[in-house]
Amino acid sequence: MNMQSRNRTAADKADVSRITGGRRMRRNRRTDWARRMVREARLSANDLIWPLFLTEGVDVREPVTSMPGVERLSVDNAAKAAEEAVKLGIPAIALFPNTDAGLRDELGSEALNPQNLVCRACRAIKQAAPEVGIVTDVALDPYTSHGHDGVMAGATILNDETVARLVEQALVQVDAGADIIAPSDMMDGRVGAIREGLDDNGFEHAQIMSYSAKYASAFYGPFRDAIATNATLVGDKRTYQMDPANGAEALMEAELDIAEGADMIMVKPGMPYLDIIWRLKDAFGLPTFAYQVSGEYAMIQAAAQNGWIDGERAMVESLLAFRRAGADGVLTYFAPRAARMLRDGLI
Ligand code: PBG
Repeated sequence: MNMQSRNRTAADKADVSRITGGRRMRRNRRTDWARRMVREARLSANDLIWPLFLTEGVDVREPVTSMPGVERLSVDNAAKAAEEAVKLGIPAIALFPNTDAGLRDELGSEALNPQNLVCRACRAIKQAAPEVGIVTDVALDPYTSHGHDGVMAGATILNDETVARLVEQALVQVDAGADIIAPSDMMDGRVGAIREGLDDNGFEHAQIMSYSAKYASAFYGPFRDAIATNATLVGDKRTYQMDPANGAEALMEAELDIAEGADMIMVKPGMPYLDIIWRLKDAFGLPTFAYQVSGEYAMIQAAAQNGWIDGERAMVESLLAFRRAGADGVLTYFAPRAARMLRDGLI
């Protein structure tokens, strides 16, 4: 059926300039140089924090099956990764240990061992690459036989008893060379307790990056493979990690952490919680980081491997989205790949 037979008149061309009053948003998108001129969010290697998984042994690189492209590294190889971070201009790395099963117990005692995997890695990295910042995770889950972030009594995760141990854990870490203490456990009062512990022991310069809004998320699955807590985790973490339905509560969590002395705050996971990043940055203005967690990484990689999406473009788009949402930086397993692309002018 043509226009005529429907008895309507239509021009070949709509009179868009009249309709929009001359405004044409596409003008600024017409050429690559113009798009670069008006680009709002930018990405640089300075925005990346590279999380590394540690394992025992010498010259070990163990692929993490559910995170294609990510490996668990022995301490010597972690030191090499740190050197690579320096070369790529990545300011900081974050360490996560896959603790030997035999060293895990009910109380997570290995967390307090000054010779544990994380502490040995801190020393080796400080030696090999003193220019890179070391972020260490404070939480008991890589060390407990039940996989929870705290001490358990029956089915309950004890708050105050856990916090006392987290302070000790933070102290052995900074003693080994950690620069930024990142409590990811979500116990109440842990930031203040750690700040006090650090200050009382002469570590007033150690920074705290608090996982302020950490949600009880399904997106941590591959991480729990990487540090081998999936198999042992009893129940879930909903009595301490946040409900994914809540946003106002994140403001309260961040406010408390800041009052207790957090130097930087973090939102985790990343992409499903861009609104939270925006709200926290807007409300407090503190350096605010996003953690693009293991499941987010795995989804992009899996889809890319299947040829369902362009993995490289999806990576860049996801990282830019964090910057647009107000994040000052992103903890991401893509860090070395993105940094290489930035170095080569491909982003
Ligand atoms: C544990 C911790 C988790 C992650 C970082 N620290 C998982 C959890 O809470 O079970 C997740 C990171 C990721 O999924 O990439 N304290």
